[in-house]
Amino acid sequence: MSTLTQDAARAGASVGLDGDRITFRGGRPLKGRIEVRGAKNLVTKAMVAALLGEEPSLLRQVPDISDVRVVSGLLELHGVKIERDTETGDLHLDPSNVERAHMAEINAHAGSSRIPILFCGPLLHRLGEAFIPDLGGCRIGDRPIDFHLEVLRNFGADIQKLSEGIRMHAPNGLTGAKVELPYPSVGATEQVLLTAVRAKGRTELRNAAIEPEIMDLINILQKMGAIISVDADRVIRIEGVDRLTGYSHRALFDRNEAASWASAALVTKGDIFVGGARQGEMLTFLNVFRKAGGAFEIEDDGIRFFHPGGELKPVVIETDVHPGFMTDWQQPLVVALTQAHGTSIVHETVYEQRFGFTDALVEMGADIELHRECLGGQYCRFGQQNFLHSAIISGPTKLHGANIEVPDLRGGFSHLIAALAAEGTSTVSNVGIISRGYENFIQKLEQLGADFTVEG
Ligand code: EPZ
Repeated sequence: MSTLTQDAARAGASVGLDGDRITFRGGRPLKGRIEVRGAKNLVTKAMVAALLGEEPSLLRQVPDISDVRVVSGLLELHGVKIERDTETGDLHLDPSNVERAHMAEINAHAGSSRIPILFCGPLLHRLGEAFIPDLGGCRIGDRPIDFHLEVLRNFGADIQKLSEGIRMHAPNGLTGAKVELPYPSVGATEQVLLTAVRAKGRTELRNAAIEPEIMDLINILQKMGAIISVDADRVIRIEGVDRLTGYSHRALFDRNEAASWASAALVTKGDIFVGGARQGEMLTFLNVFRKAGGAFEIEDDGIRFFHPGGELKPVVIETDVHPGFMTDWQQPLVVALTQAHGTSIVHETVYEQRFGFTDALVEMGADIELHRECLGGQYCRFGQQNFLHSAIISGPTKLHGANIEVPDLRGGFSHLIAALAAEGTSTVSNVGIISRGYENFIQKLEQLGADFTVEG
């Protein structure tokens, strides 16, 4: 057992920090087996949930990624004791001594993640106040927090915007509320859950997000003693309780990471067994993967993704909230679509600016045109605005090596696999961002036989 801070130092040395570069020699199929652990977009929230318990919690299968380190740092600043078993990924969180943290120390985490906004409800319950620094996360759109603030106001929080961040008070506690989200936002749904479980009385949330990571957070909260029902038509009802215990939970696998490796297998004409992946949470992805010409075999302990030979086929995709095709799946798949015979269309309806990564693919020889119009079967919120949110990908095009810079997490992974599929040598810089969400990606690339050199 070791503390997370020690782990972070070790991981920083091996995984790579922002600014690192990798030179790839492309053209080799990726083949072999890798494992995925808990979902980035669940474990970070589950760690925040531990703040609500009166006893310690145990979260299993926690990946060693930088987003986990950021949330650990913030929890430790608030008095939560954290220990991690590096082998198993078990994370022990003890919130017995939750305390106020200094604004300056919290602010040292400004810009590093979006999770701090989810500390609000639990801290207001535990301390009667909360301070949230400026948020970070991938720059893939405006990413406002208006839904979150409105939700918290509904529960009775008093919110003050300061130049350094946001300060909140709830001297008289928080009370359950009726909330209807303008859009089924994942984060705002989690905000409601993490606030309502200890609020006085009942909460009804309409137009909630129902992603599998949210369902797993609900599982965790129920283990802690919460009363939550998920009804038809995106309605979630919560009855507030006076106290919550700790939990012991094995985190849901990271389906975004699994989908990324699946696309890597397709674009490099490879064969990757993703240990830990499950069918149920990837149903929509698997359908599209198959339509694009990919093959898969579902086993009890994971899913084998491979290129079965023959031509890849074009597809038309619209990203959407669950159970639709996730926005986080499109970037690696777009790289594979550059190799499909025909014209594919991807209409991004969740984030208005999530095609920035395609510039580098075009530089590498891909034929991708971006459009402001909604090119799928439906109009989306971005249709009347000036955002390049639809892509037409014509293929197949040969990809050649280039010097490219990673713009964000998923776009970054797509750059890695484009470099691995390209003819010749590519240098990909700023790869440290990728360790925000992909555990040990460098070691995994090695395991799969990729030909590359990491530069400092
Ligand atoms: C989560 O972001 C994930 N991040 C994202 O993963 C994921 O792409 C997204 O959900 C959708 O599934 C984490 O879980 C940490 P949203 P979140 O609130 O919660 C708008 C990755 O690469 N909106 O569902 O921030 C927003 O701008 C990342 O792993 C408001 O307008 O996403 C977006 O257009 C990237 N006001 C839409 O809603 C608000 O207050 C959906 O965002 C909140 C959101």
